[in-house]
Amino acid sequence: MKITVAGTGYVGLVTGVCLAEIGHNVTCVDVDENKINLMKSGKSPIYEAGLEELMLKNKDRLTYTTDYKSAYKDADVIFIGVGTPEKKDGSANLKYVYEVVKQIAETVEKDSLVVIKSTVPIGTNDKIERFLKENLKNDVDVEVASNPEFLAQGTAVKDTLQASRIVLGVKSKRAEKILRKVYDGFNQPYVVTDRRSAEMIKYASNDFLALKISYINEIANLCEIVGANVEDIAKGMGYDPRIGNKFLRAGIGYGGSCFPKDTKALHWLANFHDYELKTVKAAIEVNENQKIKLIKKARRYYESFNGLNVAILGLTFKPGTDDLREAPSLANIPILLEDGANIKAWDPVGVENYKKIYPNEITYCDSIEEAIKDADICLIFTEWPEIVNFDISKFEKLMKKPIVLDGRNCYDLKEVKDAGIIYESIGRRT
Ligand code: UGA
Repeated sequence: MKITVAGTGYVGLVTGVCLAEIGHNVTCVDVDENKINLMKSGKSPIYEAGLEELMLKNKDRLTYTTDYKSAYKDADVIFIGVGTPEKKDGSANLKYVYEVVKQIAETVEKDSLVVIKSTVPIGTNDKIERFLKENLKNDVDVEVASNPEFLAQGTAVKDTLQASRIVLGVKSKRAEKILRKVYDGFNQPYVVTDRRSAEMIKYASNDFLALKISYINEIANLCEIVGANVEDIAKGMGYDPRIGNKFLRAGIGYGGSCFPKDTKALHWLANFHDYELKTVKAAIEVNENQKIKLIKKARRYYESFNGLNVAILGLTFKPGTDDLREAPSLANIPILLEDGANIKAWDPVGVENYKKIYPNEITYCDSIEEAIKDADICLIFTEWPEIVNFDISKFEKLMKKPIVLDGRNCYDLKEVKDAGIIYESIGRRT
């Protein structure tokens, strides 16, 4: 079976490499020549645990190219894993998907199955199939199937090789048979359905997780007011198998390239059909407020940050990735800079990407100690293990004023009490 994967971002590249791992020959196509050259030299363009090792292990089964014609023309299966970013109005931008679809229509020379892995609005698979059939240059049969992706950044390889489920949205038995053959090396439960339902499963899953986070964040906010501890609440709730103990970590909101965009896109789609998804709307609103919660807390200590030394620990939207998309740090740093704060920041992998946004405005530090030295306040945005395992007595020793506002509940409240610092976290009273 000849498999081609269009797009070498998180979804495309991880899919391609994992399919090679289970024995397929895979061609990965991207328009970005620099990225292709990097991958040819054995390097991954994204920071993802275990990915480079698998690229190396399967290098004989992996081809990287910008030559889409040769990649699509005789492929049996073409996966599309390009991005569907958010448009200004909240809807999904399908520009990149259609660019690939157009190239496939122009080049494909044999019957093939086009599989949409990208997160696309409900009804897109139908539209893509119609578009393909209308624009095919050669007399071939092309069918479209939906096969959404459920990998999370930082654990993408594991999430793919040990996926919780494989969702197949198909129009024919033939498409189902081909996809089952592709995934023959995997041992996961299948959900076989129509294409619209498969597209909806992806949005409904992501939006439900976002809702779960916003729910626990609201409970955390109330815990702070009434004097309860959100971690104990989450634990107490989580033992109920109907609720489950995952995604109940209160914090400063969800970021990343998926939840913010997918909640807005589904909300937009519902509105477009004159329906309001009230729960999803609430999740979006709660998250927007949650992101700036630390600044609000910080303002109770300092009316203005002008001339103050502010230490920032963690820049990325979560640990295990260098991705900054919708990172809560990005909602807070402009406010601090506008006020005239002197910011010193530490992050183990996010700095290079941050420098592209703030090349000179922030002092980037090589260690946590350097970032907190002489600081008037410290804000924690990401629960990197280095931060969680940091010796908290150093806050008191190194900071000018040891005020630590922790947006990710990194520290044990009992330990904090002995450390001689002013400490606030989310949904827990010190
Ligand atoms: C998410 C989903 O978890 C994946 O299943 C999905 O495939 C992916 O989106 C996608 O659509 O491509 P990802 O955005 O990589 O994956 O990261 P998550 O681990 O889900 O975290 C998202 C955000 O939620 C992070 O900012 C994280 O800090 C936050 N979060 C997560 C919480 O605040 N509390 C929690 O309990 C869990």
